[in-house]
Formats: sequence, structure tokens, C-alpha cells
Amino acid sequence: MIIKKPSPVRSYEITSERAYVNRRQFMQRSGQFILGASAVLAGCGEADEPSQAVEATPVALLDKIHLAGKQYPAPDWLQQHVSKAKPSHFRASDPLTPYQDVTSYNNFYEFGTGKKDPARLAKDFITDPWSVTVEGEAEKTGRYLLEDILKVHAIEERIYRFRCVEAWSMVVPWLGFSLADLLRRFQPTSKAKYVLFETLYDPEQMLGQRSQFSLIDWPYVEGLRIDEAMHPLAMMVVGLYGKTLPPQNGAPLRLMLPWKYGFKSIKSIVKITFTDMQPKTTWQSLAPNEYGFYANVNPAVDHPRWSQKRERRLPSSLFAPNYIDTMPFNGYADEVASLYKGMDLRKYF
Ligand code: MTE
Repeated sequence: MIIKKPSPVRSYEITSERAYVNRRQFMQRSGQFILGASAVLAGCGEADEPSQAVEATPVALLDKIHLAGKQYPAPDWLQQHVSKAKPSHFRASDPLTPYQDVTSYNNFYEFGTGKKDPARLAKDFITDPWSVTVEGEAEKTGRYLLEDILKVHAIEERIYRFRCVEAWSMVVPWLGFSLADLLRRFQPTSKAKYVLFETLYDPEQMLGQRSQFSLIDWPYVEGLRIDEAMHPLAMMVVGLYGKTLPPQNGAPLRLMLPWKYGFKSIKSIVKITFTDMQPKTTWQSLAPNEYGFYANVNPAVDHPRWSQKRERRLPSSLFAPNYIDTMPFNGYADEVASLYKGMDLRKYF
């Protein structure tokens, strides 16, 4: 029903090339050398040498280059990487939500609470250079440059339905790769029962984090059970519609978990922590009776303040709201229901 055979690559228009500072040259000029992280992370899919030392990029150096960072659009190397995306067998057959809607109707509270705020207020967001820190119950921890993380992952296009807890939904051609493939490279230990993701905390850039009215205890955090994180549907996203992610959609790196409510799909990730305890997540901490840890799409369990039986599929308007029935696990039950076998989904909502 949901998963169909790949069809030929879509011929998306890739944004025209612009003259960017070559990032390698830039780093050489600033006296950078990024060796350790690539040495450690280059072995995706291959058996890592257990004796191989973890040498992450020195934090002080990364902070220095961040100060001279570049705003969106994404750097050349990332645009090129994304432009090589191939179709995958993950292809929801629903009509796509137009690019304009996907990139102008957003939830990204770091950049305001209105749906149109992120597109406006995140446009100067600095996403290059970018690093991800890996901590906790894993053999390979440290701080890694995005380039070193991404270069071994071939990018594929997956068309997923995406259902927000607010009862609207989209269908988006995301570009990225399997989250499991990435997590395995850090060699989680047997104690890694959960994985926690964290968004950048940078109040200077993210005005929502400066707001005295915000109830969120920043940074935004989300978590998964390790078997959920390792599920083949779980995706690390770097682009959509043939292009790199715009800032408002979580540039440069976000999650996409199509069977869960959208708030689990955390944006602009800077930290991954493997842990033995179920973490407290942002929305769950704010209103535990409204937002659960699992947050699996479930039309049988209403939000305390509204029904979850139907959703407004974008594009929609006042006169053509385009309501459709919501499906258990957002239509991915065949793939993921076994993860929750024996669990009371009313209790673990
Ligand atoms: N990630 C961060 N860091 N901050 C946020 O406010 N909002 C979440 C999720 N990820 C959010 C976030 C919610 S509620 C939704 S519905 C989706 O992002 C929206 O993703 P989109 O704007 O790409 O549609």
C-alpha cells in the first residue's frame, strides 16, 4: 500500500550554483585540520577496527570556525551530495504537498510560534560549518563535522506521509538515509536502550530561545527507544524536493519518523546521546498528559483538546480544507506495529 517500487529519479530543479567560499579552502585558511573524525566515521557498512582510536575534532577549533560560519544556502559539498540522491522503495503513493507549502507552513519554535515565522526568521541561520556531538553508551563518541558524518551515506529520496499532532499532514519527498546506518557507526554498547537527540542552542540566532514567554526548557530534545531508532523507516534527513533542507525545515540535519507525530522529528540536530534510561523529551516535559514519549500516530487516542481521527492534508484552505481519515501509525502499521506488540497504546501514547 505504502511501499512501492522505485520509479526513475524525479527531475527536480536544483537551485542554481552560486559562488561560495570553498569550505576546505576556508578551513585551511583558518588553520583547520579535521582528521580524526573522518578516520573514525569513514567505515560505514564495514567492520570497524575495534582498536581504531576515536579522535574527534577539537571543540575549540570548531567553535572558532562557527563564529565565521556561513548562512543558508547550504555549502557546495552538501548541495552536490544531495544532488546525487537516488529514489528508494519508500514511496507513499499520495499526491505530494507542494514545495511552497512544505517550506512556508512550519513548526520550529526556536524561530517563533507562528506557522510562517520560521521561513522568515530562520533565513539567515548559520548551518555551515556544523558538527554533531556523540555521547554516552557507545564506543565511538566525540564531536564530528557534518561533512565527515555524511560523506559515506548515499542519499536517497523517500516519499513519506508526515502527520503533525495538531492534525494537519503533508506528503514530502525527503532526502537522506537510514538513521540505523548512522547510529551503528558509533557502535552503541549493550547499555544503549534509548537514543536522545538535541537541537542547537543558540539564542543569538534563535529568537524563540530568547523569548521570555517561551515555556520550553531549551534546547529542544527528542528521544527514541533504540529499536525504534534502528527501524528501517527512521530517516536522517538533509534535504527535500531535490534540494538541501531550508533552515525552516531543520537544516542541515533532522529526523523523519513517518509513523510518529511530527514533534518527534527533531530539527537542526547537534547532539546524539545513547543512554540506558528513557529520556525526558521537550513536549512530554511541557504537558505529559497531552504529549507522550512514543507519540505514535493513533486515531483511536484523541489529544485531550482535539480529535485525532482526521487530519487536514496540505494544501488546504478555508473552503477546501481537504480532511482525510488518519490511519494507525500514519499508514505504516504493517512495518512498525510489531515494535509495540503487547503494549497498551492508550497508556503509552
Ligand atoms: N524541532 C525543533 N528543534 N523545534 C521545533 O519546534 N517542531 C516539531 C518538529 N521538530 C520542532 C522540531 C513539530 S511540532 C513538527 S510538526 C515538525 O518539526 C514540523 O516540521 P516541518 O516544519 O518541516 O513541517
